[in-house]
Amino acid sequence: MTLRVAIFVSGGGSNMVALADSMTDDHPARAAVVLSNDATAGGLVKARARGIPTEVVDHHPFNGDRKAFEAAISERLAPYEPDVICLAGFMRVLTPSFTVMWQGRMLNIHPSLLPKYKGLHTHARALEAKDHAHGCTVHLVTGKLDDGPILGQASVPIYQNDTPQILAARVLEQEHILYPQQLRRFCQELTLPTQS
Ligand code: GRF
Repeated sequence: MTLRVAIFVSGGGSNMVALADSMTDDHPARAAVVLSNDATAGGLVKARARGIPTEVVDHHPFNGDRKAFEAAISERLAPYEPDVICLAGFMRVLTPSFTVMWQGRMLNIHPSLLPKYKGLHTHARALEAKDHAHGCTVHLVTGKLDDGPILGQASVPIYQNDTPQILAARVLEQEHILYPQQLRRFCQELTLPTQS
């Protein structure tokens, strides 16, 4: 059985590319669709170039009605029959009514060593705190922002002259390794035969 993965992006989509490109050969999953809340997201162009179907659900017309926005996402996803959702730089907060439907089947990558630095500006916050290490986390998504069981982490050193941009690039390199690694492991476990 091949699992079908929906990948949600809002920006450049470099994590989406790392995920999509990893799902070949003996991988238990394939990218079924890339969805964005932003029609101008670079990730959409990269998905189309790979022959992956794309969908856009712009959040603006929903005027902050998150539930209606999520209902539209669900409707748009349905024809692709995804088994798993990967959030890959998706910059909209999803409410518990959406996350509960995908409990145990939705992954996120966050650019910090959770539980440190939930939310935005993680690289600047790690520098301000004079941390010696920083990194990224792949976790299961729950109703709480950047929370949920941790599947894996990768850390990088922080050097004296780092800027948030330099540090972000160092972390991003690790994201591109960690996320595909964790998705593969997650999908392998999902497809293991159950003992009778
Ligand atoms: C990544 O750093 C990801 O961890 C964060 O947003 C960034 C998205 O980058 N949530 P990209 O769109 O995957 O290039």
